[in-house]
Amino acid sequence: MSDLSPLRLDDGVRVLALTGAGVSAESGIPTFRDGNGLWESHRVEDVASPEGFARDPSLVWRFYSLRREAAASCAPNPGHRALAELEARLGERFLLATQNVDGLHRAAGNERLVEMHGNLFTTRCSGCDRPPFRDESLHFDAIPRCERCGAMLRPHIVWFGETLDPADLARIEDFIHESRGHRLVFLAAGTSGVVYPAAGLVEVCKRAGAETVLVNLEAPANVRAFDRVIEGRSGAVLPALFG
Ligand code: OAD
Repeated sequence: MSDLSPLRLDDGVRVLALTGAGVSAESGIPTFRDGNGLWESHRVEDVASPEGFARDPSLVWRFYSLRREAAASCAPNPGHRALAELEARLGERFLLATQNVDGLHRAAGNERLVEMHGNLFTTRCSGCDRPPFRDESLHFDAIPRCERCGAMLRPHIVWFGETLDPADLARIEDFIHESRGHRLVFLAAGTSGVVYPAAGLVEVCKRAGAETVLVNLEAPANVRAFDRVIEGRSGAVLPALFG
């Protein structure tokens, strides 16, 4: 049984949290690496890469429409709520970087949030520089087009082979940098530690002197990098950890 004693959250502590699909599992959203490389029976590269979109944009839109539908019917769980309460407590001494695109952290109340892999309910133009916009619409038949330039619209998701928004990475790096001279806790939850650059944040934080804590159902790829590992469900462990 893992040690569930609360984190020491004394005055001045700063917390950088990193979450992955495991944190949304208890809300009913399936994680990525349970399906033999398949998402809803599609090969990942067919539905989540620029090449897949170029080959068959309507398949990609059907896939993301199903994911929008599924996520819209899900609600935050106690793990999300615990992270929102932690932000309310720490204010600017807290930052949440998530690999999840489902919007459940924001729904729970987190605002100091970096959605590293984009957002399921945001769309952008594949052709012009119109800013990304909130979009809950579903596209099972026609491919949606940009009303400004006529190019295909696409989900605002970081696909395989694409790079993360440099502004998002800079926000995370700045938070780590500003933590020098303070106690920093890096807390990862529900992530398999195989997709970079998120998986490398633990090492970056360690080099900056952080204590590193992991909450996960099972030991992930980068488990050795953590000072403290708590095996369990985030919905049960996170509320206990923030006592
Ligand atoms: P994964 O599906 O790779 O890993 C989820 C992790 O959560 C696994 O290690 C599970 O053991 C753990 N887990 C499952 N249920 C849990 C629970 N209730 N509590 C705690 N842990 C639990 O998901 P990610 O690490 O998020 O990228 O995957 C990273 C990225 O790979 C995703 O953001 C996605 C994918 O490619 C994009 O879509 C760009």
